[in-house]
Amino acid sequence: MSEAQAEALARAAAVLRKGEVVAVPTETVYGLAANALDAAAVKAIFAAKQRPAANPVIVHVADEFMARDCVTEWPATAQALAAAFWPGPLTLVLPKADEIPEIVTAGGSTVGVRLPRHPFMQELIRTCRFPLAAPSANLSNHISPTTAAHVQTQLAGRIPLVIDGGAAQVGIESTVIDLTGEIIRILRPGMVSAAAIAAVLPEHTVTDGHDEGVLKSPGQLKRHYAPNARLLVMNWADEADLEQQIAYSRTPHDRVCVLAHSIVVPGTRFGRVSVLPKEPEAYARTLYGELHRCDAEGAELICVEAVPEKPEWNAIADRLSRAGA
Ligand code: TXA
Ligand code: MG
Repeated sequence: MSEAQAEALARAAAVLRKGEVVAVPTETVYGLAANALDAAAVKAIFAAKQRPAANPVIVHVADEFMARDCVTEWPATAQALAAAFWPGPLTLVLPKADEIPEIVTAGGSTVGVRLPRHPFMQELIRTCRFPLAAPSANLSNHISPTTAAHVQTQLAGRIPLVIDGGAAQVGIESTVIDLTGEIIRILRPGMVSAAAIAAVLPEHTVTDGHDEGVLKSPGQLKRHYAPNARLLVMNWADEADLEQQIAYSRTPHDRVCVLAHSIVVPGTRFGRVSVLPKEPEAYARTLYGELHRCDAEGAELICVEAVPEKPEWNAIADRLSRAGA
């Protein structure tokens, strides 16, 4: 670890020990962290984000032992999934231990736990020796930050410290999976796919949770992860076709941002045309950065080319549909 990193670590740990919040890098998106065992500290997260109290917060741990301390049951399913995907972008929802304050779980009996892959975050939790409650470090209902600069734009002046750990490698939020029932439910899709989870748990039924119509994860609210601009997911044949569709919206052309990945139109007539990667992992990594940029440029309309209807694009399609709702 470099001297600068060691210093950032010490500073972050000191702020967290005081019961205050720190914005920290994780491999999915930046998080707004506080001591998960300190209800007052977690309350400060909700205040800084203007987050509704009904939305529970994920608890981040540095190893499996710490995860087991946060829960009252550690079933074989948790063991198998942790072995396969931790550290990584998967959050396991399990019955909560008494040590976890109610504010973390929004009064519920379950807690979401995750072992993140980012080395700074792991080292920070080890240094503090307490788990870190951390939602994404954005104002409630805005797009999650994937760089420290994104955090600054939304939360500067509201929080004491932002740690810059580089651009997030995954780029969208973790897969959230409920392990408390007979049937294993994906509450929020992410880059750990349903197929990958099912492959690790061949004896179990894994569903995406929509079949029951219960709202178990508030991340599942229809409009969430939204930019300021209106966002439309659409298909186009060529530039003339796209232009015709935009004409209906009456948005001035220089206020339109186009995010294409397959049929790339010449940019001359629009505010900007961005070409996103064709691979889902790379696409996920760049998506939020593109949306933040559209907002920063004052776009009124973001036209996103519809992504392939394939399982590996599922989590991305989910975020796009919520951003456009
Ligand atoms: O990748 C991520 O998960 C990032 C990084 C910082 O770890 N965190 C994140 O947190 O996205 P947040 O608070 O923005 O989203 C957490 C999601 C919410 O939809 C919340 O409702 C759900 O997880 N969640 C947390 N605890 C839960 C629980 N006990 N039961 C059901 N859903 C839960
Ligand atoms: Mg969030």
